[in-house]
Amino acid sequence: MAKKHKRNHWLQRHTRDAYVRKAQADGYRSRAVYKLIEIDQRDRLLRPGLTVVELGAAPGSWSQYARERIGPGGTLIAVDVEEMMPIAGVTRVRGDIADVAVKQRIIEHLGGRGRADLVISDMAPNITGIRALDQSRALVLVEDSLTVATAVLAPGGRLLVKLFEGEEVSGFRRRCALYFKRCVIRKPAASRAKSREMYLVANGFVGDTGGKAVVRGAKP
Ligand SMILES: C[S@@+](CC[C@H](N)C(=O)[O-])C[C@H]1O[C@@H](n2cnc3c(N)ncnc32)[C@H](O)[C@@H]1O
Repeated sequence: MAKKHKRNHWLQRHTRDAYVRKAQADGYRSRAVYKLIEIDQRDRLLRPGLTVVELGAAPGSWSQYARERIGPGGTLIAVDVEEMMPIAGVTRVRGDIADVAVKQRIIEHLGGRGRADLVISDMAPNITGIRALDQSRALVLVEDSLTVATAVLAPGGRLLVKLFEGEEVSGFRRRCALYFKRCVIRKPAASRAKSREMYLVANGFVGDTGGKAVVRGAKP
């Protein structure tokens, strides 16, 4: 009964939400797109011709927008553990990002070389309601995003990653600063006010794999 009440409450809030209605009118698969649009307008992340790796892509609104922005000359590899309906010009990889084989498939799609311009991650765990557990699972996804970014980005590359407010954020930010010249936090208006989510934009990747991507734990 409590579950049913919760679901009805979610449905009511969802249908009242202006961003949900706007996404439907604009032909996007999710309201999440307006978070990316706002950050992109501010930080100029996407432009024609870029090579982009997207983590946690389903149902696909970020992919739809990123595809429009990078144009036919760009490359977009979209990863999710869930099935995502196809989008023209988007290469989909289905699997858990923690899986070394999934990381290897991303690198194969990049032609075996770490030469992406941008990694974007909107990954989020299924929320259990147990705060400590949710926080630690979210942090694992954030760390996985950084692992992928450091394996595939070209020097000067950028990372956009979703974080959840908590004690670990400052530690993660410090770790990002080891690999990137500048890291800033963004809280887009389309993030629900009650949500603890925020985004980190890391600019100027300084690591250099010599063009060769490396995945820790992978068989040579
Ligand atoms: C908030 S949704 C992303 C919405 C997307 N940005 C959009 O605009 O449609 C988060 C996604 O992260 C994915 N995800 C969570 N954990 C993952 C993992 N370990 N590996 C790959 N994807 C994961 C979920 O399946 C979910 O589809």
